Amino acid sequence: MLLSMTMAAQAHAEVSKASFGKMPDGTAVDIYTLKSDAIEAKITTFGARIVSIKTADKAGKVDDVVLGYDTLDGYLADKKTYFGAVVGRYGNRIAHGKFTLDGKTYQVPKNNDDNSLHGGTVGFDQHVWTAKEIPAGVEMTLVSKDGDQGYPGTLTAHVRYTVHHNALRIDYSATTDKDTVVNLTNHSYFNLGGLGSGTILDEEIMLASDKYTPTDAGLIPTGELATVEGTPMDFRKSTVIGKRINDDFEQLKRAGGYDHNWVLRGATGETKTAAKVHDLKTGRVLTVTTTEPGVQFYTGNFLDGSFHSNGVTFSKRTGLCLETQHFPDSPNHPSFPTTELKPGEARHWTTTFTFTTEK
Ligand code: GLA
Repeated sequence: MLLSMTMAAQAHAEVSKASFGKMPDGTAVDIYTLKSDAIEAKITTFGARIVSIKTADKAGKVDDVVLGYDTLDGYLADKKTYFGAVVGRYGNRIAHGKFTLDGKTYQVPKNNDDNSLHGGTVGFDQHVWTAKEIPAGVEMTLVSKDGDQGYPGTLTAHVRYTVHHNALRIDYSATTDKDTVVNLTNHSYFNLGGLGSGTILDEEIMLASDKYTPTDAGLIPTGELATVEGTPMDFRKSTVIGKRINDDFEQLKRAGGYDHNWVLRGATGETKTAAKVHDLKTGRVLTVTTTEPGVQFYTGNFLDGSFHSNGVTFSKRTGLCLETQHFPDSPNHPSFPTTELKPGEARHWTTTFTFTTEK
């Protein structure tokens, strides 16, 4: 029954492809449209990015609920926000851009003060991925050569985006020819009120997590798994995001808001609910499920209004990210779930964004 329903939902999905322009070196960039009965997602081969997700609110009004640009030029001009991108080879930070693997020390670019962020100066978000249509979606592939941004091993990454009724599913897989580390996630900024509707501070969020990884001043985890109990990091019950964001709490002051990794319950590899966001005005609800062990909840604290698209200014806290991932700086924390990948292993992980409405 479930299988036939899934197949029926897939049968309704339409996939089409168009040109999204050219890179400065002439490489062609495409944009795919994935359309089901309930959502329409646009994905570009530049950074394997989600450009838009259109879905209805409780009154049936359709809006784009992720931040992004209409044109490739918009993405090329913005090297700061990572809007909608697949970030890698290592999503989030590696302390001092340094880690040791099999007794050898590797140095990767420091592009965030003294640390490496989202794979380095030319991360996966800056590459044009190859793409092919698959049932209900598109599969993007990137081959990152041995030594790319200082990382060992040729890494082949596949990211499949598919739509199933009201859900956008992302399946990641990676293989390598030498021992390496990998942590890929999607860096979409959601605003369930719709693009241009203001900040996300009035939205409610639930994070299915009892612990988070506190950070130092450079947003590198200290290694501790701290309880959320009695702190503004406690989102076990759905809570308005802006309620405690400016509290006198050292972790929030360091990050200028929420920008932390929450430790999800359940095992790595097991599908579980990570988060649920509710926009009370439009009634839109986003549920995030994943096989990953953590989620970086980031409230767009670094959006500073310097980027715009179609009359919309991307100001502070006008979008929120739910980057399902392994913990930041895992290569330097043997107690964290491992991000090491060895030849012969094929790692597969998945995240699904499901959109519903509540009155
Ligand atoms: C992640 C990081 C943030 C910030 C954004 C991109 O969410 O944790 O600190 O770097 O990416 O701006």
